[in-house]
Amino acid sequence: MPIEPARLLLAPDGTPFSETYGDVYHSVAGGHAQAQHVFLAGNGLPERWQGRETFSILETGFGLGLNFMATWLAWKNDAARCRGLEFVSVEKHPFSVDDLRVAHSVWPEFAELVAHLHEQWPRLVAGEHRLVLEEGHVTLRLVFGDAVAVLPTLEASVDAFYLDGFSPAKNPDLWSGELFRSLTRLANPGATLATWSVAGHVRQALQAAGFAIEKRQGFAGKRQMLVGMKAEEPFL
Ligand SMILES: C[S@@+](CC[C@H](N)C(=O)[O-])C[C@H]1O[C@@H](n2cnc3c(N)ncnc32)[C@H](O)[C@@H]1O
Repeated sequence: MPIEPARLLLAPDGTPFSETYGDVYHSVAGGHAQAQHVFLAGNGLPERWQGRETFSILETGFGLGLNFMATWLAWKNDAARCRGLEFVSVEKHPFSVDDLRVAHSVWPEFAELVAHLHEQWPRLVAGEHRLVLEEGHVTLRLVFGDAVAVLPTLEASVDAFYLDGFSPAKNPDLWSGELFRSLTRLANPGATLATWSVAGHVRQALQAAGFAIEKRQGFAGKRQMLVGMKAEEPFL
């Protein structure tokens, strides 16, 4: 399947915006802070990886890699970090490295990390691209393709899910019961998830797929967000 790259556009307030999906890539209140509040804290990180040999995260929608960089930086700054961090991210419309360079220039805190990411950024060819970072302690498995098609056959043992595929109203494909059942298949016991969406049909589909979920305080202006944990037995 040929890959159709994303095109970097900015909303009037400067937030990266997708013309294809009619949605922004991160909260207008700040991408790094959103990643920390929703995806890291929502999954109990960094605490949950501390003292472990390995920890694996799966994300729907790599986008600008902001969640990945926030996670990588948190891991790097954590003296009690796990030895190996695996980050698997599925992306249907990856950016070119030139667009990433422009987009990333607004986050000086990631400057050192993004230089390594840009160096290893793969050609925009469908399939899995494995980037080995931090002398092999951090692995980024970038899977270019449609998550709907990729997830049912993906191999991974996941401890935390970042659900970040544009809003369910604008991109329902990434929030379906079928997609969530693929996540359940990949989930380790005790695996968690986090997302900024609290849409009713998303909550129901996650529960039907076997996740116990609860609402938490959302990021910035948002009243709520969602966290979840793989239930012992799927709810029927
Ligand atoms: C909100 S952005 C993700 C932001 C990203 N997590 C970050 O930290 O920069 C949503 C992403 O999902 C991707 N996407 C949308 N539909 C997809 C699909 N069916 N399969 C894989 N990726 C998809 C979009 O191309 C976009 O990059």
